[in-house]
Amino acid sequence: MEFLDNLVLPQSAEHISLLHYMTMLILFLFLPFISMVLGGATLSIFYKIKGLKENNSTYKQFSKDLIEITTINKSSGVILGMVPILALVLIFSQLLHTANSPSIWYLSVSFISITVGLIYIYVYRYSLSFKDIFDSVGSAQKDVNHELKEQFSSYSERAKIVNNKSGVWGLIFLYLATYFYVAGITAAFSTETWGVKSSILNLVSSWEIFFRWIHFVIGSFILTGTVVLFNFFYWEGGRKNLTQEYSNFVRDRITSHTLINGAFLPIAILLSVFALPSSALSVNFFGLVLIGLVLLFIAFHMLYDMLKNQHTKHSGSAFLLVLFSLIFIVISDQTAINNSTKKHSVVLAAQFEESLVQLKAASGGVGAISGLEIYNTKCAACHQFDRKLVGPPHKEVLVKYEGDIDKLVAFINNPTKVDPAYPPMPAQGLKPNEAKAVAKYILEEVRKY
Ligand code: HEC
Repeated sequence: MEFLDNLVLPQSAEHISLLHYMTMLILFLFLPFISMVLGGATLSIFYKIKGLKENNSTYKQFSKDLIEITTINKSSGVILGMVPILALVLIFSQLLHTANSPSIWYLSVSFISITVGLIYIYVYRYSLSFKDIFDSVGSAQKDVNHELKEQFSSYSERAKIVNNKSGVWGLIFLYLATYFYVAGITAAFSTETWGVKSSILNLVSSWEIFFRWIHFVIGSFILTGTVVLFNFFYWEGGRKNLTQEYSNFVRDRITSHTLINGAFLPIAILLSVFALPSSALSVNFFGLVLIGLVLLFIAFHMLYDMLKNQHTKHSGSAFLLVLFSLIFIVISDQTAINNSTKKHSVVLAAQFEESLVQLKAASGGVGAISGLEIYNTKCAACHQFDRKLVGPPHKEVLVKYEGDIDKLVAFINNPTKVDPAYPPMPAQGLKPNEAKAVAKYILEEVRKY
């Protein structure tokens, strides 16, 4: 993204470390939300299809509950889904300024497909309710005329088509978006990808990105599972209007889904950690990953207990443990980015110092332009370079100041009587840096004569 690179100025060391903290904060908002939507939408669509095939109303209800819990509401899609990833694009274009990392490209693609994906998913969510409304109205009105009934069934049919399509497209875009998101973060770690022309080929052929993405997807399902349990059985004391049968169904389904995913997680984490470049690794990094894993392990233990002993007591704590483990994973990711961009940050900070010096020089006023300006307004009325005016021609009198600009500055600030053939020169009331600028200008200019 060259145009972003051109917009960005080099940053100071303090600013860079601030950017790292901001990235972490943004990920705390973004990751839980997008994981939840990904997991929730996948499970919802899975159970919807299953419900239609087997004509099972429990599955259909479950599908609706899943998508309602995990997408929260429309504005959260914007605040927790779209805004954070856009902010990431801007932050990374500062952190990786002039590094030519493909990271910013990937994150921008991710932003676009997240936007499209979320729109589809929210259409899916709301059309699911519409379809139900049309269905129930259509079937409840037994004695209304035939025409009206027809109309309702055609609305319901259309809502169904919208619903099916938007769900599937939403999933496609969300999976694509998360792949690009993971690729963007991974490219920030992998200094060897910087400056290399990236193509779709090295995007899909990178094991590093692939393993990390699998890790992400599995993590999403685990988080989604505990969020659903939390919502059903813990939040505000748990849902009151559940039938025992449905409540058991939700508990058993969700705990077993989550545990199956959990079984794959350690392998996914190991593979994704070992696929990382050594520049990204550090003792801190391993420590953080380890803490994250231990928390997950305790959470799985609780879920297993709930499944085996048929209760929902741990719904709250399992969710919190998974959330904390996610936080540790985010911090470990951030540590890895920090480790691998360390060198680059030093380069950026040095560039910043340099541009600061240049900026000061430009505004400090020893440039030729301001010297010329001052000369034209303050001196040219009495002086020319090669001709006598009120004062002597510069080419005659400046010889003695050659190589001694300070002496000339002193004269301009405070003219003393020199040549009896001329009247004394009045002081021009210049500021010290103005006097210096004009002295520099006339000394350079006089060489042309
Ligand atoms: C009102 C007319 C006037 C203005 C305006 C004026 N000068 Fe002069 N300048 C003179 C005169 C008259 C002399 C000769 C003074 C002398 O020999 O004692 C002179 C002498 C000089 C000399 C020669 C000094 C020497 O050691 O022989 C320099 C250099 C000079 N001026 C630079 C400037 C610069 C730079 C400015 C503008 C910031 C400026 N002058 C503005 C009238 C002026």
